[in-house]
Amino acid sequence: MIYLNGEWMPIEQAKIPVLDRGFIFGDGVYEVIPCYSGHPFRLREHLARLQTSLGAVRIDNPYSLERWDELVRAIVARNPWDDQYVYLQVTRGVAPRDHAFPKGVKPTVFMMSNPLTTPPQDQRERGVAAITAADNRWLRCDIKSVSLLANCLLRQSAVDAGAAETVLLRDGMLTEGSASNIFVVKNGGIITPPKTNFILPGITYDVVIELARANRLPLQIRQVSEAEVRDADELWLTSSTKEVLSISTLDGKPVGHGTSAGKPGPVAARMHQLYQEYKRTVMRAPDNVQS
Ligand code: PDD
Repeated sequence: MIYLNGEWMPIEQAKIPVLDRGFIFGDGVYEVIPCYSGHPFRLREHLARLQTSLGAVRIDNPYSLERWDELVRAIVARNPWDDQYVYLQVTRGVAPRDHAFPKGVKPTVFMMSNPLTTPPQDQRERGVAAITAADNRWLRCDIKSVSLLANCLLRQSAVDAGAAETVLLRDGMLTEGSASNIFVVKNGGIITPPKTNFILPGITYDVVIELARANRLPLQIRQVSEAEVRDADELWLTSSTKEVLSISTLDGKPVGHGTSAGKPGPVAARMHQLYQEYKRTVMRAPDNVQS
């Protein structure tokens, strides 16, 4: 079952007018929320980011935090899978085509859920291939906008090269992946770029940083140069659906040095373990935006 503007229906029955500004202009924002055994993960943080994205594009949030909380739980309850990811999208609404904002239009709200399959063990053990590309997106990558054409083109270039992700570089510096944040490990220390307008502030990124701090793993949040990316001992990508996943080759070259070159490294294994433990703790004491 999906949710569209206050109604529940099978996805086949869901229809939106062709003049929806999401369709015409990509004028909307979205969230992807992982839910484990029925419990939304970091729901409060996802809803806070949704509010930030809506504010940045000047769409009034159509619902209160409590209403969103209810709806996310309701869609999970209406779908059969144990682990799911909820996709929700808010667009500016339906109006005659004009770039400037229409007046008095109600935002379109769409929500669906799909089975969540995190990377299988063999992929975690082998890691994935990635390529690099110039980050040619706009300068507001901090907004979780549905205008994802540049991200789609960048991701497709990875697929065309037989790789899983594209690592983006802007002016010689690491930004993020086409649909993930990127972490580098050098001499046992974890390094990742700061939250700026050049990257999406990932919820998984925050969890990884918190776990590194809580477990006293060396961590630096600072600009990362292209040279550092290419000379990394380990490279990881993080996202709500991929969690923490090692990149084992970059532009066809093995990531890392010596005997562990081309294989996921020990810091990734540790972080993956911490992440799984953290997930289990959260599931035992589920978060609720009202609490
Ligand atoms: N994408 N950066 C970009 C460009 C992303 O699209 C994503 C996630 C992330 C990681 O954010 P988070 O940890 O909150 O999932 C970083 C989602 C999963 C998607 O578009 O499907």
